[in-house]
Amino acid sequence: MLRNATCGQLRSENQGRTVALAGWVDSLRDHSGVLFVNLRDRYGITQITITPSVGEEMFELVRSLRNEDVIRVVGTVQPRPVGIVNTKIATGEIEVKASEVVVLNRTAVVPFLPGAPEIPSEETRLKYRYLDLRRPQMQKTLELRHRITKVMRDYFDEHDFLEVETPMLGKSTPEGARDYLVPSRVNPGTFYALPQSPQLYKQILMIAGYDRYVQIARCFRDEDLRADRQPEFTQLDLEMSFVEMDDIIDMVSGLVQRLMKEVLGRDMPLPIPRMEYAEAMERFGHDAPDLRFGMELVDLTELAKTVDFRVFRSVAESGGRVRAINAPGAAERYSRKDIDGLNQWVIEHFGAKGIAWLKVDPDGRLAGPIAKNFKPEELERIKEKLEAKPGDFLLFSADAFETTCKVLNGLRRRLASELKLIDPNEMNFCWIVHFPMFAWDEEDGVAGGGRYVAMHHPFTAPRTEDVPLLDSDPGKLKAQAYDLVLNGFEVGGGTIRIHDGTIQHKVFELLGLAEETCRSMFGFLLDALSFGAPPHGGIALGLDRLVMLFAGLDNIRDCIAFPKTAKAADLMTGAPSPVAEKQLEELAIKTATIQNVTLKNADADLEKKE
Ligand code: AMO
Ligand code: AMP
Repeated sequence: MLRNATCGQLRSENQGRTVALAGWVDSLRDHSGVLFVNLRDRYGITQITITPSVGEEMFELVRSLRNEDVIRVVGTVQPRPVGIVNTKIATGEIEVKASEVVVLNRTAVVPFLPGAPEIPSEETRLKYRYLDLRRPQMQKTLELRHRITKVMRDYFDEHDFLEVETPMLGKSTPEGARDYLVPSRVNPGTFYALPQSPQLYKQILMIAGYDRYVQIARCFRDEDLRADRQPEFTQLDLEMSFVEMDDIIDMVSGLVQRLMKEVLGRDMPLPIPRMEYAEAMERFGHDAPDLRFGMELVDLTELAKTVDFRVFRSVAESGGRVRAINAPGAAERYSRKDIDGLNQWVIEHFGAKGIAWLKVDPDGRLAGPIAKNFKPEELERIKEKLEAKPGDFLLFSADAFETTCKVLNGLRRRLASELKLIDPNEMNFCWIVHFPMFAWDEEDGVAGGGRYVAMHHPFTAPRTEDVPLLDSDPGKLKAQAYDLVLNGFEVGGGTIRIHDGTIQHKVFELLGLAEETCRSMFGFLLDALSFGAPPHGGIALGLDRLVMLFAGLDNIRDCIAFPKTAKAADLMTGAPSPVAEKQLEELAIKTATIQNVTLKNADADLEKKE
């Protein structure tokens, strides 16, 4: 070993010990003939002191060091003189007086210093990810990620789960995103799909009698990316046999409690609160509500039917909804110009026609351009319904139910953040249960006339008491489906599965999947289900999102060692990239876009390798 201690380890009780440390030069200072090197490794920073007593050659060598050079230091641990103790770092009481310094490797000029407080642009960070990953913040996050997966593995091992790996090269799975395809060389013209999730395999493992399965599984989805989505991400995936919804919820709630304790050192009481999907949509306009603050949606549709204000009444009378939120004490904070901005924002982002607003005067009167449209007693009713107090800011959306949900959820979250209503340290979990089985997709269907789509996936079981609705009113069916929500993010989702072939066929039929299509897509699962499938269900948690929230970050890319950009590119390796024509030929593939120059280079590279 080139070292016998780490840069985060030494304390005053190690005084007098001779140590060997190795790491990167974080900084070098020259103080009237004494050199100070801050030496950094994954564990921390230790100050190294070099005096001319090491001899001129070695002293000059140290003086020539650059930040990020790699060195080894042998020396003696000594207390720092009073007054220069650094309470900000764990090793701040000591320093190592060097007797020998060896340069293990020199660095080229770095595009940024991992030890500096300034954070470079994300493009630079991703291009030079190895330097970015040297930043203590990144190392802390990946360490947290490791701790989280370690707790998960321990927990499920203690509960008799088996970790089973499922294939990466498989068949298209029905999670609703686009597949990443992999061409088969030996079977020209055919493709594997990378798994969107291990869904089908884990159900088959239940049929095979494995009873409790868990996997930390990589999933691939070719979908439009956002701050909380990656094309390649990790799930904590599990499935259990002979269970009902409550069993899965209890098992995962226990895990969450354990993670809170072992990762964050916090006690969390159980049970985690539950809310019906329908209630979440009514009160928050979203199925992953952020419960760290109030500003709940208030329904005014009945009242709106009786008022003169055309915008409200026409919507209320034609089956739409009029709903509002009250941003407490925010009247002063939002100027006319700010409100125009909010109006434009909801029009552009949520397809709204606009928002209406009122402010409560210091003397309790409702004011704003729409106030004149209401009779005094109507204004009183509005105030009452919204529990409005002087200084409050009321925002209204009149539209189809779905649009009012999007608009008011959007405004609720945006205003809470702008008004700093959120305690960043709170970890607020809840379960949202009983999602609808189906959503109606207006644009899809055979003749574009709309069709049912599965809210989760087509193997989700309806509530037992709802089964008759499969024939009479499928739109009303509720599923044995549950999502785990943390601070307004969906961190997990699962369902009890259909284990009865007849129900499964009915669901496929409702989804407009022809018998033949089903057989060719997942005939193997249908067959398997017919050979004694136990009742089963499961869930998958988004590991990257969970790490993001446990680390208090707002970007999933900061929780993944080698993430991709919004255009699904890896800036460090340059993937995706063109391949040699020869490779394409072997795969019997012709591409429509030929990137000649790069292709030739790729061919040349390949020849060099051969
Ligand atoms: P679902 O599609 O809800 O369920 O995914 C489960 C969880 O995975 C996370 N997640 C993502 N994280 C990062 N980037 C993405 N692109 C991404 N997509 C999903 C979310 C989500 O809650 N097979 C089912 C689970 C089951 O029914 O057991 C499934 O995949 O946190
Ligand atoms: P109008 O009478 O059309 O000028 O609209 C009066 C106010 O209602 C304006 O501030 C509009 O932005 C707002 N508004 C228009 N459509 C809606 C809607 N669907 N929901 C809420 N407010 C709206």
